[in-house]
Amino acid sequence: MNNWKHNHVLDLSTFSLEDYKTVLELTTRFKDVHKSSSRKLPSLHGRLIANLFFEPSTRTRTSFELAAKRLSADVQNFSVSSSSLSKGETPLDTILTYISMGADILVIRHESTNVPAELANYVDINNINTSILNAGDGFHSHPSQGLLDLFTLATFFNPNEPSTNSLLNKKITIVGDILHSRVARSNLWALTACGAEVTLCGPPSLLPEEFIDFVQNPPLGQNFDPINKRGSVFIKRSLKDALKNSDAVMTLRLQKERMKQNMLTDLDSYYAQYGITHESLKWCEKKVPVLHPGPVNRGVEISNRLVEDNSINLISKQVENGIPTRMALLYLLGLNKKD
Ligand code: CP
Repeated sequence: MNNWKHNHVLDLSTFSLEDYKTVLELTTRFKDVHKSSSRKLPSLHGRLIANLFFEPSTRTRTSFELAAKRLSADVQNFSVSSSSLSKGETPLDTILTYISMGADILVIRHESTNVPAELANYVDINNINTSILNAGDGFHSHPSQGLLDLFTLATFFNPNEPSTNSLLNKKITIVGDILHSRVARSNLWALTACGAEVTLCGPPSLLPEEFIDFVQNPPLGQNFDPINKRGSVFIKRSLKDALKNSDAVMTLRLQKERMKQNMLTDLDSYYAQYGITHESLKWCEKKVPVLHPGPVNRGVEISNRLVEDNSINLISKQVENGIPTRMALLYLLGLNKKD
């Protein structure tokens, strides 16, 4: 814990292996807090956490709220529809209002890439003791989702002691709309940091060839990479080839709201080529778990039957693990706050 250096959590490209270990260890510890008699820990008593979601969310917003409450923090939830944004207030002035009220941590989701990073820069320059936690910005990053997916996979492979080692040399296939997915990007950083081999699979319009270099030659602004040796990234266009040697499969929502134009001619043929179903999973050499970050488009990227088959999918585990993972992040950021 002493090695934790981050005042903000914006992007997993800046995480060291030690950071991942710290988060996984804390998540393991926090996983059972709800089973204790009080169902709470006093760790963030008196701290103020503001959830500022400028974009819709079910899982992330509610689990950050619950995580903050389990750590005994005060929580403020912001809703676009009932805010003064409708009177012309800018998002920056809205955010500054929460800072003025003494927010220790701002959990922010915004449709524009880099809003959390710009805000972190603003508070740092102005010596404001508020941490920024990115809850999803545009295509760019969704660090808490990447970490909860990492924990879910580590627990699947090593139920008694989930750790970064649990992912070493595992073959993880990510299928679907990679181009518009901040979840895919955060998973690429987290999984390769822990030595997993990641195969990306999708049509060229949703998975450009450049992704092969995503973690080796990070995009501009994400070029601080503290990991010495990462797992490899592969691209396969055929789902059959991509699934063959997989140890786990993650499928992603088609993100129509982020597409500038229609990038697929026909959803039925997309489902036929890239849909994850009981039938397509027969291409795997063994029984593998299926992850989906949610929300799910049933019958588009995953079959109805598979969404409801908890013997294969880990969707409810991902949601469940979102709470202790977010507790870990809030705890680590809250620890650095001065009284
Ligand atoms: N996975 C995820 O971010 O879901 P929400 O949009 O519901 O928060």
